[in-house]
Amino acid sequence: MTKNGMNLTLKVWRQKSDKDKGQIETYQVNDISEHMSFLEMMDTMNEQLISAGKEPVAFDHDCREGICGSCSLFINGEAHGPDRGVTTCQLHMRKFKDGDTIYIEPWRSKAFPVIKDLVVDRTGFDRIMSAGGFISVNTSGNTQDANSIPIAKDDADHAFDAATCIGCGACVATCKNASAMLFVSAKVSQLALLPQGKIEAKDRVLNMVEQMDAEGFGSCTNTGACEVECPKGISLDNIARMNREFMGASITSDK
Ligand code: SF4
Ligand code: FES
Repeated sequence: MTKNGMNLTLKVWRQKSDKDKGQIETYQVNDISEHMSFLEMMDTMNEQLISAGKEPVAFDHDCREGICGSCSLFINGEAHGPDRGVTTCQLHMRKFKDGDTIYIEPWRSKAFPVIKDLVVDRTGFDRIMSAGGFISVNTSGNTQDANSIPIAKDDADHAFDAATCIGCGACVATCKNASAMLFVSAKVSQLALLPQGKIEAKDRVLNMVEQMDAEGFGSCTNTGACEVECPKGISLDNIARMNREFMGASITSDK
């Protein structure tokens, strides 16, 4: 290691557009501090590219504190890199060592087409949410205060856990079938467990699953890789709950 930090070889996916075939390109970055976040290291790489008159690498990011879910990178073959329970923006360079070669690729899924370089189109998730990931609220002024509705502690805790899904798509990127079941089941569960979500529960689960299939996400074969790589620790229990909700709704629905 040099006096100031690590020297790294980066193998980065470059792709001009969704029409382009794309390829891996190699860049060298030097003097990277172990205290940097992974995205700060990427910023350093881009500053070097810009100084050399080359086009910087496009990658998604926004909050840089594990909230928005936009920093979707496949790092050395793992969604969000080698650490557990963190997003790419929360990953630190201390997880790597001087002389390492790091492969940086976009999420790979037919339902998440590459827009440019490391940026993929995740609007399929937005369309699934539009299909039912909400509750309709009575705005007449006679709405009961949600805080005055008693909810069993277990249900409140599980609903809260499901609600921590940030829609990053790591579950899809990790799954060998590119299944979106963990994401959709988290969104179904957070509402199915609460009284406010029960009114539209049947239509919600049927419509969200239908949209999930229409987007081209694959089926769940219970491999469980999604749960391992999910930065928010969303449990496979949510998939079981969604399957129960779906079966119950299918039997009683006239759709
Ligand atoms: S379930 Fe986990 S991995 Fe999938 S979108 Fe939500 S937070 Fe990301
Ligand atoms: S940039 Fe928002 S979660 Fe990483």
